[in-house]
Amino acid sequence: MVEFNLPKKSRPVAGKVWPKPEGAKRLTEFKIYRYNPDDDQNPRIDAYYVDRDDCAPMVLDALIWIKTNIDPTLTFRRSCREGICGSCAMNIGGTNTLACTKGIDEVKGAVTIYPLPHMAVVKDLVPDLTQFYAQHASIEPWLQTSTPAPEKEWRQSPGERRKLDGLYECILCACCSTSCPSYWWNGDRYLGPAALLQAYRWLIDSRDESTGDRLDNVEDPFRLYRCHTIMNCAKACPKGLNPAKAIAEIKNMMLARQL
Ligand code: SF4
Ligand code: SF4
Ligand code: FES
Repeated sequence: MVEFNLPKKSRPVAGKVWPKPEGAKRLTEFKIYRYNPDDDQNPRIDAYYVDRDDCAPMVLDALIWIKTNIDPTLTFRRSCREGICGSCAMNIGGTNTLACTKGIDEVKGAVTIYPLPHMAVVKDLVPDLTQFYAQHASIEPWLQTSTPAPEKEWRQSPGERRKLDGLYECILCACCSTSCPSYWWNGDRYLGPAALLQAYRWLIDSRDESTGDRLDNVEDPFRLYRCHTIMNCAKACPKGLNPAKAIAEIKNMMLARQL
């Protein structure tokens, strides 16, 4: 479990212990971060008990069960419940991951759930991802060409296409960036692993014709070079991607163009 040195005001305090569901034989305890900006109260950790015989196996199922059966004010993001949309990313049992693909039984003991670390909290488990998305937009994640468009389509060989494997699968969940110490301390200036992985995805796309401009865009002591290869990002990625490797490849491209 990662403990952060939070200012007193934002340090969560013990909260409410909600009653156990009546008649339940198999219970799991959930300790969940609660914060309402309208309250002017410190964040708190509420305890809930989920009837496992009435709840499907994933952590997201438990959150929905709690919201439906105990506390409708509990707030979190989710959409696909298939590990595709990236919206249910949160810190579960001390690890950034997706609530919809994390089994309740993968966590030993009480299941602790916090929002993604080091982000401003909108409410409960919902982080403010405004800056994260702006950083993604800043790398201009779309095909850029200067030659006239072909009549049918921009062609790519199977080998060229394979170079995008391990990159295009990113679902922008932010698990990696919010596990990166460099991003915690310099998130306003360092692009972070998610945006840089996407930057590399476009740098090596054989159809793209803006490689020089794209390298110029990230060549900066903060935007790119705050990565110190700590590798938290690769460990955290729920899709098994390796942003640290992508960042190292961008640095190699920078070196190659100086030779
Ligand atoms: S390898 Fe780089 S991007 Fe990944 S966690 Fe470490 S510093 Fe952050
Ligand atoms: S690289 Fe992985 S952890 Fe990072 S945003 Fe993409 S899917 Fe999420
Ligand atoms: S709900 Fe879409 S990734 Fe979890």
